[in-house]
Amino acid sequence: AMAEKAGYKHFMQKEIFEQPRALVDTLAGRVKAGEAEVFLPDLGLDAEALKKVRRLVLLACGTSWHAALVGKFWLEGLAKVPTEVDLGSEFRYRDPLVGPGDLVVAISQSGETADTLAAVREATAKGAQAVAVCNVVGSTLTREAAGVIYTHAGPEIGVASTKAFTTQLVVLFLLALHLGRVRGTLGDERARALVEDLVQLPGLLGQALEREAEVVAVAERFAQAQDFLFLGRGLCYPIALEGALKLKEISYIHAEGYPAGEMKHGPIALIDQEMPVVVLANHNEVLEKVLSNMEEVKARQGILIAVTESDNTAACSQAEMVIGVPPCPSLLAPIMLTVPLQLLAYHVAVLRGTDVDQPRNLAKSVTVE
Ligand code: G6P
Repeated sequence: AMAEKAGYKHFMQKEIFEQPRALVDTLAGRVKAGEAEVFLPDLGLDAEALKKVRRLVLLACGTSWHAALVGKFWLEGLAKVPTEVDLGSEFRYRDPLVGPGDLVVAISQSGETADTLAAVREATAKGAQAVAVCNVVGSTLTREAAGVIYTHAGPEIGVASTKAFTTQLVVLFLLALHLGRVRGTLGDERARALVEDLVQLPGLLGQALEREAEVVAVAERFAQAQDFLFLGRGLCYPIALEGALKLKEISYIHAEGYPAGEMKHGPIALIDQEMPVVVLANHNEVLEKVLSNMEEVKARQGILIAVTESDNTAACSQAEMVIGVPPCPSLLAPIMLTVPLQLLAYHVAVLRGTDVDQPRNLAKSVTVE
């Protein structure tokens, strides 16, 4: 078993560290440095069909749903296509308004999640088209959808999803670029710059992984905490959700992810000197707002842990502890900031002695309702 884990203690740790390689594999053949075009040959929809799409409907469950929430920002921001996001388990039971002109993008690591499959069937029965973002070749979802974009993360064994998530994000970014090119919302120069950013990303992710010691220090200090709060805004709000989900899945610590601007409408009541608050505070257009949310936490004696670029002095000086990541383009920050949150959940779980790869009550893929 040790051999299968390539020297790592757990599959989850191995899979976290495989992410730079997984991202390279997911980008391979689809983009090229210096070029503006994106190649998604298995999409099953040509340029004409993509131009006719009126709306995108992203359907997923669990961690894959968090990828969808980030994807909405990119798809609306870069390709200007109105995008809805829903959970498979909600969509399938509400007689959704969906039909011709809608393109469903179903996101699933396994391609076997019952709720996601049922939601896609409901949408296609009503006349929508469907493409799959999936990690498992030949899975049910990929057979039922008209097209597919594989994530190429390689087999994911740990129940808590890691490399499947970051590669889903990369695929959604590729889809946004592709739609933006085809639909004329993304010019040559902008697209080329974004492709270049993507090509650089695996290397930057590798640098983030080299800062594991900073994460371990935070994990050691808070391994016995009862609760955790994760805050983010905009593109990073879904990453706050994902950070909280990872932590609860494998460490069994109660954790909540929240949009930082909504803190004053509830979670602020929870903050006291016992409460670790992880804030995603990278450079972006809402950094000022995030900094003022950090002030609010501090004013109530909450313990601030900033996850931010190492050169972000404003965020670093506010926080009691800092987990640094290399500076990266703000549009791609969701992928970058995910890495330290995965490591945090992992190390807290290891310190608490839980079964990291097979957490209680959870399944890798939920194939029944
Ligand atoms: C289970 C797994 C999660 C996963 C979710 C959706 O709950 O434990 O890690 O995110 O299913 O799975 P899918 O294969 O559809 O992405």
